[in-house]
Amino acid sequence: MTFLEYVENHRDQNLTELSEFLRIPSVSTKSENKKDIERAAKWVADKLRPAGMEKIEIYPTKLHPLVYGESKQVPGRLTVLFYGHYDVQPAEPLNLWTSPAFEPAVRGGNLFGRGTADDKGQVHIHLKALEAIFKSEGELPLNVKVIIEGEEEVGSVNLWDFVITHREQLKADALVVSDTSMLAKGVPSITYGLRGLNYYQVKITGPSQDLHSGVFGGAVPNPITILGEMISKLHDKNFRVTVPGFYDRVQKVSQKERKALNALPWSEKDFRKTVGAPALCGEKGFSIVEQLWIRPTLELNGIWGGYLDEGAKTVIPSVAHAKISTRLVPYQEPAKIAKQVERHVRKLLPKSVKCEFEVLSTSKPWVASYSHPIFQKAIHALEQGFGKKAVFIREGGSIPFVTQMHDMFKVPCVLLGFGLPDENAHAPDEHISLENYFGGIKSVAIFYDRLARH
Ligand code: BES
Ligand code: MN
Ligand code: MN
Repeated sequence: MTFLEYVENHRDQNLTELSEFLRIPSVSTKSENKKDIERAAKWVADKLRPAGMEKIEIYPTKLHPLVYGESKQVPGRLTVLFYGHYDVQPAEPLNLWTSPAFEPAVRGGNLFGRGTADDKGQVHIHLKALEAIFKSEGELPLNVKVIIEGEEEVGSVNLWDFVITHREQLKADALVVSDTSMLAKGVPSITYGLRGLNYYQVKITGPSQDLHSGVFGGAVPNPITILGEMISKLHDKNFRVTVPGFYDRVQKVSQKERKALNALPWSEKDFRKTVGAPALCGEKGFSIVEQLWIRPTLELNGIWGGYLDEGAKTVIPSVAHAKISTRLVPYQEPAKIAKQVERHVRKLLPKSVKCEFEVLSTSKPWVASYSHPIFQKAIHALEQGFGKKAVFIREGGSIPFVTQMHDMFKVPCVLLGFGLPDENAHAPDEHISLENYFGGIKSVAIFYDRLARH
């Protein structure tokens, strides 16, 4: 049996196995899911052996374990490191799911469930592609290392330590990742740029305790009003971020690259439909694709304070909070940006309130050349697997490990995305297209096979 026949013959079995993985609620941000996280790590480790790994280990970290596997390393062969994550985002709000988040279900050619696209489904694609080669040929024709972490959705907080202490072990000729999306259905894509991410939390304190708004209102600072005023000054009328110095180090993307990005078969109509807002808004002077991929942003992710329960309560709250993030592009420096944002926020606040400013996580932006021959092999594999032309794109999301690996080893990073922009990653009714799941296994198997024939 050839590996492609093996892939064809195992469709149902693979889907059933993926569903088993998806039923484990490995939510990394919640301590109540600690046991599930451990179960998911164990599940992944067990699946590495049939994929051809012989040295398999679960490394504990300060938070969640990471799973590592290595096939027999034959000198002279190409070595690839595959990275993915087994942790998922919380499923809430649960009532908005058509079928329960952790009970995978197939509807209309899609598999629904938390983690289907981000990232369990995409990790499974690689495990099954490797298994097809390993089982049909008796060995893997290239050296494979696999690292599947459990902290990606909380900022890969302990991964950097692991990379530093296991530098030699992780050495490879290329990094392969599937944790991104295709430009659109039927447009297989390779991502060569990601934005970085700084995440901040701000706490504004006015009165030392909540106050009766009738007795005190009119003479005391209201932290919610003051927070709102501050937030309203973070962008100007052209939707540019007002933080001084924010754009200083932003990469000037060449006309040639901008032209190529704007010429991609990207549909504004589909984008508007996915967004579902009455109208769009973004930084003046840039196309939507540019706003999403090559420009930095500042976003409010959450804001709360005061009385939030049923009915009315007349109160001036003591505190108000906001979660703010900045998406960063080359060559902005996360640490510097964090300082600039904090300084600006403090400057915008009056003396009548106190402010606590916390940086929860930082991750660097990434962009790289795709001239290395490995990218042509990836393009050909995608085109064979999907029977469609493949393209190079950038994306707006962040994957801390990619930058870390690229900085550390300067190796090509091949990001093969099998998700789709409208598959509700991080939201209710997350799903993956079965066409992309099965096409993904086929393409990735072809890719690994081709890599071995360098
Ligand atoms: N898979 C995503 C990143 C992604 C999504 C890249 C879409 C490109 C396109 C990843 O799981 C993720 O959600 N990352 C977080 C960052 C992390 C530090 C919490 C993000 O981008 O918000
Ligand atoms: Mn992901
Ligand atoms: Mn994610």
